[in-house]
Amino acid sequence: MISTHQNSTNPKKAALDTTDPLTNTTAPGAGADRPGWAPLVSARGVSKTYRSGDLVVSALRGVDLDINSGEFVVIMGPSGNGKSTLLNCLSGLDTIDAGEVVIDGRSIHELPDRMRTAHRAARMGFVFQSFNLIPVLSAEENVELPLLAAGTKPAAARKAASRMLGRVGLAERGRHRPAELSGGEQQRVAVARALVTEPAVVWADEPTGNLDSATAAAVLELFGEANAAGQTMVVVTHDPTIGQRAHRLVEVRDGLIKNGSVAS
Ligand SMILES: Nc1ncnc2c1ncn2[C@@H]1O[C@H](COP(=O)(O)OP(=O)(O)OP(=O)(O)O)[C@@H](O)[C@H]1O
Ligand SMILES: [Mg+2]
Repeated sequence: MISTHQNSTNPKKAALDTTDPLTNTTAPGAGADRPGWAPLVSARGVSKTYRSGDLVVSALRGVDLDINSGEFVVIMGPSGNGKSTLLNCLSGLDTIDAGEVVIDGRSIHELPDRMRTAHRAARMGFVFQSFNLIPVLSAEENVELPLLAAGTKPAAARKAASRMLGRVGLAERGRHRPAELSGGEQQRVAVARALVTEPAVVWADEPTGNLDSATAAAVLELFGEANAAGQTMVVVTHDPTIGQRAHRLVEVRDGLIKNGSVAS
């Protein structure tokens, strides 16, 4: 069973910590003392085309999207319409062909790779649609990785990873490698890895797609707690119960945002 009690040592960290990891100065526009929503992500005219040989796929066709700090945004839309591509491009994991994505006041695709990676490690957590766990590492080691990347000491990282695995109901499975875990268990390791650093923004691609309804509800509860603590959640899902939790539904159709590109 998944534990959903609040374990955060500093539950307001994500809301209050607006320090820019690149300069150690306060991120522009991210002041927690400002009334109403503060912008966290702002995308304008984002296009992404995949080319393999003669085949050209326009996966994103000029997307505009604003996401505010503390929002719980759910992205929905039919298969193959660009949802995963949107997450990858907005978070700076993937390159874009045109447009701009500003996060924490910085145009992330213009940053040198090393700075973009540092920014990601300091501010973001990811649940990938295909989990992307590292096969040669145990579940616990996979969950430790983002903590170590963010500079946490190994002993503290081990402790936090173990506690987070407990919260997704995998306390007994920490030593197992991904291949020794079921699809749903791997997905829960991926969720633990995304949440363990208490990141300012969590990008989650179908995070409950492999879970039974009770386990999915418990993962959703964890997401809700993270959001209540100030973390911004951007979740791609086909699950309407996650949609009910959202501040805003964004509908992606054919590489464009059909509805919900700005908070109302
Ligand atoms: N690496 C790639 N190379 C070529 N085409 C790609 C690549 N990744 C995605 N595509 C294409 O881009 C389009 C959008 O894909 P994407 O994975 O973003 O869709 P999606 O909305 O996440 O779908 P699903 O709900 O099935 O996960 C699809 O037509 C897909 O085939
Ligand atoms: Mg997808």
